[in-house]
Amino acid sequence: MFNKKKLFSLITPIAAASIILAACGASETGTNGSASEDGEGTTTLKVGTDAAYAPFESFDDKGNIVGIDVDVVNAIGAEVGVEFEINNVAWEPLFQQVTNGEVDLGVSAITITKERQETYDFTDPYYEATQLIVTKEDSDIEALADLADKKIGVQISTTGHFAAEDLQGKGSKNIRAYETTPIAIQELINGTVEAVIGDNAVILEYIKNNPESKLKAVEDDSFEKEYYGLMVKKGNEEVLELLNEGIEKLKESGKLAEITGQEIE
Ligand code: ARG
Repeated sequence: MFNKKKLFSLITPIAAASIILAACGASETGTNGSASEDGEGTTTLKVGTDAAYAPFESFDDKGNIVGIDVDVVNAIGAEVGVEFEINNVAWEPLFQQVTNGEVDLGVSAITITKERQETYDFTDPYYEATQLIVTKEDSDIEALADLADKKIGVQISTTGHFAAEDLQGKGSKNIRAYETTPIAIQELINGTVEAVIGDNAVILEYIKNNPESKLKAVEDDSFEKEYYGLMVKKGNEEVLELLNEGIEKLKESGKLAEITGQEIE
């Protein structure tokens, strides 16, 4: 069982420091995370995300961040008694902010990779994904190999970007890396690139929501299975254990599968 006292013992000095800093007009950017506790003893953890990633995180009409990832963290919070404050910080800054403690965790359909595990700790997986190619409906692209000499659009520093680099080599001029996945797909529609490689659920959601764009998805068996995890700064075991406890409970009760629409061990 997670020991709440332990978490509070970590948080209280930070909260105290933040009050002092706030009084001085400075902002709180502790290296131990930014967890805070209100008067009633509810812990709030700061989440960073890139909310241009439906169906996992995107803005609704009212300006709220919604999606599968939001539902997953809120369900975790309900299980373990913490609250989450979700901030749209963009994809690349997200990693920086987890490192420097501006946010306590990253929740952004983040694939657990060996390289990232050198710098971050990940929870148990909560979603299985893979890469998918998206191209124009009338394109003759049928497989990843067909992209060997084509202009490929990707979201920068994503597993889709890494897949493009594996195919064409790291310095390839035919790889165009954009800040968000929707921008990469827009450049496909504009004709700047001939295909985009991205996470399957996100590509399929885009195609479904934008039929007028006349895009199609192309699968390729050589794309490996990927698993999304919630990401914390390496060594932040307090938060990691809490999140894993919540995920485990959601797996046992079947709530995780209800939210994500898939079973995962
Ligand atoms: N799963 C991919 C990765 O981890 C892409 C995630 C991008 N997420 C986002 N919200 N933009 O590299």
